[in-house]
This record gives sequence, structure tokens and C-alpha cells, in this order.
Amino acid sequence: MKAHRAMFATALTMSFVGLVLQVQIPDLLSKAIDNSIVRHSVPLHFYVWWVVALALVGGVTGYVARLFLFETAYRFEYDLRALIYEHLTKMSFPFYDRVQSGQLISRANSDIRSVQMYMTFAPQILVQCSIAVVAFAYMLSINVILALVAMATMPFVYLTAVKMRTSMFPVSWLIQARLAEVATIVDENVSGVRVVKSFAAEDQQLGELSRAAARVRWSYVKDADLQARWSPAMQNLPQLGLALVLLFGGYMVIHGDLGIGAILAFNAYLLMLQAPFMMLGMIVMMGQRAAASASRIYEILDEQPTITDRPGAVDLVDCRGDVRFEAVGFSYGGDDGVRVLTGFDLHLRPGETVALVGRTGSGKSTVARLLLRFYDVDDGVVRIDGRDVRDVTLASLRSRVGIVLDEPFLFSLSIRDNIAYGDPDASLEAVVAAATASGADGFIRRLPDGYDTVVGERGYTLSGGQRQRIALARTLLVNPPVLVLDDATSAIDVQVELEIHDALRELMVDRTTLVIAHRLSTISLADRVVLLEGGRVVADGTHAHLLETSPLYTEVLAQAASREAADAREAATDLDGRDGPGVPGPTAVVR
Ligand SMILES: Nc1ncnc2c1ncn2[C@@H]1O[C@H](COP(=O)(O)OP(=O)(O)OP(=O)(O)O)[C@@H](O)[C@H]1O
Ligand SMILES: [Mg+2]
Repeated sequence: MKAHRAMFATALTMSFVGLVLQVQIPDLLSKAIDNSIVRHSVPLHFYVWWVVALALVGGVTGYVARLFLFETAYRFEYDLRALIYEHLTKMSFPFYDRVQSGQLISRANSDIRSVQMYMTFAPQILVQCSIAVVAFAYMLSINVILALVAMATMPFVYLTAVKMRTSMFPVSWLIQARLAEVATIVDENVSGVRVVKSFAAEDQQLGELSRAAARVRWSYVKDADLQARWSPAMQNLPQLGLALVLLFGGYMVIHGDLGIGAILAFNAYLLMLQAPFMMLGMIVMMGQRAAASASRIYEILDEQPTITDRPGAVDLVDCRGDVRFEAVGFSYGGDDGVRVLTGFDLHLRPGETVALVGRTGSGKSTVARLLLRFYDVDDGVVRIDGRDVRDVTLASLRSRVGIVLDEPFLFSLSIRDNIAYGDPDASLEAVVAAATASGADGFIRRLPDGYDTVVGERGYTLSGGQRQRIALARTLLVNPPVLVLDDATSAIDVQVELEIHDALRELMVDRTTLVIAHRLSTISLADRVVLLEGGRVVADGTHAHLLETSPLYTEVLAQAASREAADAREAATDLDGRDGPGVPGPTAVVR
């Protein structure tokens, strides 16, 4: 609000000026009736022109006040939204593991809105209420007793408003919460539509949605019921004030103690005061809601990113690609969590390709995440070029270490833009070169719009194998000195994978590469294989050496192969048929 103080102050001043002008009008009316109509001492048009002039100036101030007020409100909202989003981009993976994205989105929308409303409109309402003081002063100047009589119902209007808001407040909360419930169901059904339909669970989901919708209806009806009870009471209380003015004022006029115009003026003042007093009750409600929303927003803003650049962190330049894990211990969720790695040692020499093999859930992906500092180690140290990864800047580390995940996330952009994601200025030649290396060029060219084809949300218009190849191209484009492939070719059939490998072998020559793989064909890319079990490396050597010496290695490979055979049978229809023949029996390959 401080950043927009000039605009906001102007808005409030203008609205105050406008109200002061408005307050003059009943007084003028009263004088016109008494002086021009009853006594004929002042020409009538004198007052008429004054009223017209006041209305015109009031129109201009009203325009400025409104425009500036709303502009302040929307600027404030913009600032807050930018602040939250900027903060979210800084948050680390442990935070995103914990929170639900739906929650974040609702905080970035409706909560910001309610804080904005309070911050900008509450002062405005206060200004309007302050005018009550001026109006009351006018009334006092006309007639003290009648002024007190006229105001007698105002405290009751205020109390009714407060009561109304407090009784309606829980219901309006309920409406918000239940609307969010409906939104969550709709959201999950849209993004999970493939699962819903594959289980023919549409009816079940419809039932759930209609139950949630019925709960929304119930709260809205409850809200309407409360409004119907309170609003008429509040609207009719001031009429009681009017009756009192008529009674006492009329009595005084009859006895010649007061001019007729005064009654008219009082009438107008009372109507003028009604709105701010009702709004005063609204401020109470808005304040409660804004306080709740602000605390929800602060919950995000107060959360400090756990993984940040250390003071004095340096950029990783001229990376040779020497990677070393030294006695690394790690568990998700700090000390309480299950230990994933204990005393994990691994050295990747510059230019070396190492395959990391292990049972599912053994911590292979975790090793990759630690190298990119998605998480920080609990014990030991991860070094790149001899430097602790915590001593180099995150941005430089992540631009030198490229990772391809097994479930690639694509954006709803063209294929070209997806591949050029890490370097938006890349030329089309560079994009095509990366796509060729990852074996994606062929199928991309067969798409109707080629490289300009826009992929559906998360890339769902492509097959799993196609998505993986685009993700691989995306990482190859930035040409990182250290490359991590986390099951990156798991959905690509062996035939195509072999072609990719030819390209990859060339690319891997002076690049340090860590391949996490289940398949023998992928493992064959590596100079060396390490076997991960129980959180540490239990075997290390060439494929042939491990086959001879480690029964566990043979077992892991066989398991992976049989799992893959099952997957292949299941996903046979999902695979892109145009890319070559099916999978030759992987189990046979292992033996
Ligand atoms: N974000 C997370 N929060 C908490 N626990 C996690 C998280 N990610 C993984 N884990 C746990 O850590 C362990 C190691 O997981 P990891 O993903 O490293 O296994 P993996 O070897 O890559 O398995 P896979 O071969 O199936 O990909 C698992 O037991 C898993 O449940
Ligand atoms: Mg994994």
C-alpha cells in the first residue's frame, strides 16, 4: 500500500471532498424551501444553480476517486500475486513434496482478493463514515434535539449490521470451502480423466460431484435465509428514525419552533447516513476474512526455501565433469525419515559413462536428485570438480548438470519451443540437431505441423516414448558437461533405443554421464556399472565382471527384464507403431 500511497491518498481525498459536497445539498434544500418557497426572500434559481454545480463537481470527484481506488486495488493485487509467485519459484523440492498445488492456487487467487478488498475498501468506508460526523454537525447546527432524536436508531443499525455479518460469516466461509471442494473434484477429474474412464468410474465421480454440489447449494440457501432475516430489519430500522423525525420535527414545526425545510434536510441526512453505518458492519466481516486470508498467504511467504545459494557461493565455470559422492547419507523428511542412502560412495571421472543399477525403490533417482541439489545431503558431501555442490550457485550447477527424467513433463507449447526450453534463442538447426540425436526427428517430421505441432497438456497427445525422446532432445540442446539419464529411455522400444545410443555414444565422448537403467541395452552404453543396494554401492565394475561376481546383479537384471516384458505386453498398443518392430524378448537378452 505504501508503494501506491500517492494514488491511494488522492482517491481517499477525492472521495472525502465528494462527500462533503454531497452533505451540502440537504442543507441547501432546506434553505431553498424556507427562504424561497415559504418566505420568498431569495430567488429560487439561486439554490437550483448551487445544487446543479455541486452535483457536477461531485461527479468529477467521484470519477477520480473511483478510478484511483480501483487502480490502487488492482495494483496491490498485482504486487501481491507477483510476490507470492516469486517466492514460490524460490521454494525447494521438500516444500513441493508437502503442499498441494490446488491450495497454492487458491491462495494466489481468492485469498489475495480478500486481502486486497480489505486494504483498499475499508479505508474508503471509514472515509464515508467520517462524513457522518460532518452530517451530524450540520444536523446539530439546524436543531440539537431533533439531531439527537434522528440519530437514536443509528447505533441499532450498526449493531444489527455487526450481528448480521457475524452470523453470516461462518456461512460465507463454508461457501468458499465447499466451492474449493467442487473445484478440486472437477480439476482431478479433468487431469485424471484417463484413469476415471479406464475404470468406467464416471458414475461414481458424478455422484461425488453432485454430493459436493449439493453441499454448496445447502450453504448458499443458508446464506440466503440469513440475508432474508437480517436485511429487511436493517433496511427498516432507519425508517423508524424517519418516523421519529416526523413526530418530533412535525410537532416543532406545528408549534413554529422549526422550518419545514429542516424536516426535509433531516430526511436526506438520515438516508445518507444509512449506507456507511451498514458498511461499518461489513468492515468487521471483511477484516475477519482478510485476516484469515493474510495468514494463509503468510504461511507461504514465511516458509523459507531450504536449498539456496550459500553466501559466497561461486559460479561453476569450465566444468570438467568430475563427480564424487563421499560417504553420502540421506533420508527424505530429515531425521525422522527412512534412510535412503548411507555411506554412499561413487566417483565419476570426467568423460566416463556409469550405469547405476538397483532394485526399484533402492534410491537411484535420489542419487540424481542430490547431484542437482534438489535436496541436500544429511551426511557426507557431493562434489563436482572437487567443489562441494553447496558451495556453487544453484543456477550454474543446474545449467552444467542436465537431467532427463523418466516421466517427462512437456509444456503446452510447440515441439520446437519444448526442445528449446533451456535456451529459447536456439536456432532451428540446433533444435533439429538435438532432436536427431535423441531419435525424435523422424516422428516429428511425420506430424502434421512438424516442429510447430503444439503438444497437448503435459504432452498427452504424444506417446510415452515420443515424450521421452523430446525430453532427451531438450536436455541435449543445452549441451551439459554432466548428463544424468534417469530411466530416460524406459518407454522407448529397444530398436529405436539402439539408434539413439549410436547418437548418444558420440555425444557422451567427453561428457560425464550417469545412466540409471533397468535394461541391459541401456546399461551396455556404460563403461562401468555400479550396483546400489541398502543405500550403498555393493558392486562396481564392468557388466561382465558384475555378471560373474554378483548374484544380486543378475537377479536385479532378470527382475527388470521380466517386468519390462510384462510392461511391453501391456503397453504394446501405446507404443508408436511406426518406429519399428516390437521388443525382442528382453529376458533372452539378459541370459
Ligand atoms: N519426494 C520423496 N519424499 C519422500 N520419500 C521419497 C521421495 N522420493 C522417493 N522417496 C522414497 O525414497 C526411496 C528411494 O526412492 P528413489 O526414487 O530414489 O528410488 P529408485 O531407485 O529411483 O526407484 P525406481 O527404480 O522405481 O525409480 C523410496 O523408498 C521412496 O519411497
Ligand atoms: Mg527412480
